[in-house]
Amino acid sequence: MITLNIEKTLDFISKDAVMAYEHQAKAAREALENGTGKGSDFLGWLHLPSSLAKEFLTDIKATAQILRENCEVVIVAGIGGSYLGARAVIEALSNSFSWLHNTKKDPVMIYAGHNISEDYLFELTSFLKDKKFGVINISKSGTTTETALAFRLLKKQCEDQRGKEMAQKVIVAITDAKKGAARISADQKGYRSYIIPDNVGGRFSVLTPVGLLPIAIAGYDIEKLVEGATAMEKACGVDVPFGKNLAAIYAATRNELYKNGKKIEILVNYIPKLHYVSEWWKQLYGESEGKENKGIFPAAVDFSTDLHSMGQWIQEGERTIYETVISVENTNHKLTVPSDEANLDGLNFLAGKRVDEVNKMAELGTQLAHVDGGVPNIRITIEKLDEYNIGELLYFFEVGCGISGYILGVNPFDQPGVEAYKKNMFALLNKPGYEEESKAIQARL
Ligand code: PA5
Repeated sequence: MITLNIEKTLDFISKDAVMAYEHQAKAAREALENGTGKGSDFLGWLHLPSSLAKEFLTDIKATAQILRENCEVVIVAGIGGSYLGARAVIEALSNSFSWLHNTKKDPVMIYAGHNISEDYLFELTSFLKDKKFGVINISKSGTTTETALAFRLLKKQCEDQRGKEMAQKVIVAITDAKKGAARISADQKGYRSYIIPDNVGGRFSVLTPVGLLPIAIAGYDIEKLVEGATAMEKACGVDVPFGKNLAAIYAATRNELYKNGKKIEILVNYIPKLHYVSEWWKQLYGESEGKENKGIFPAAVDFSTDLHSMGQWIQEGERTIYETVISVENTNHKLTVPSDEANLDGLNFLAGKRVDEVNKMAELGTQLAHVDGGVPNIRITIEKLDEYNIGELLYFFEVGCGISGYILGVNPFDQPGVEAYKKNMFALLNKPGYEEESKAIQARL
């Protein structure tokens, strides 16, 4: 089970102040449970782990097997909540060099539909020219421009390159049950498809087919992932007392830090494979809390890499930040530092030590230095990087986000602000239906 340690925030905020959130945090957790808070139409994620039927997971695995058997490369086309969860889990569990040295012969997972870069799409389609590839088209609305554009290119290439019959086998849609272009094309072309439940928003959808199918295709155990999430669902349940509910304590601590001027939370990892867990977390908290002119700004760094770029700012810049460190207790592999006769680099004092011991001392030394420098430090410890522990971690952050958003007083389940750029982009591109907006925006240029 993951652990949470807030001791290193207590030079900055008091334990009593955190504990004083008991009533608010309990009310927030109950509002999630009873569906009485803002955005209650989007609470389908809350009991998702424990409600996923074995047959459903078996069906996902069967589809995954079809793609695994017929594809060297699988493209996950999606943006925001429609790709970050899958990418977070897959990258956390993958060999860092599986691209170059794929011993397990799992399909290579590539992501598209999350940018509109012509070079990216050109280079991707060029790379795919001699590859047996498949595509998962993921979009809840089915109308997101970035994803639809990438899918249009990839679908054509897949059909041209692999033939219509094979394309029908290796293209899967994950979208709304009835509406949107992705649903229409899936129904017309006869693609296998999965439904994103109406009551699960994109950023909370990692345990729906949105995350589960790509993760299963990549060769990871989705049952173990769900098992970990289910354990955390229980551990953060509505009846768990405040002092024992990790998600409630996390939510209370970050709200108290925010109240005391700590406006930026930096999620820290010491294992680069967690980079996309941070990207997923940034979306989860940023999109859930950044509204009504309030909300902690979620940032992230990969240490020790970024200690050599952002370390100075964190140590001595404006004191408006705090850190939440994801600490991984055990590595999956062992490597010791060799002894060197000449010792030209002066590293013989490390000879025989595990590389992870050096990393752990970097972690501890950094924590002490940053706390000394005025940066409160929350620590989340997970046992190791595997499906079960990642499942626990993701669910912990989801329920923590729901509680935290309610304490902050916002609706954590909408994202009205995301529409503003789309409206301008469509007006600038003269999309039919945007004639008035086009005129208005042209007048501003
Ligand atoms: O969390 C969200 O709701 C968003 O990030 C969406 O997931 C993202 O905008 C993609 O939307 P869609 O799945 O409709 O293409």
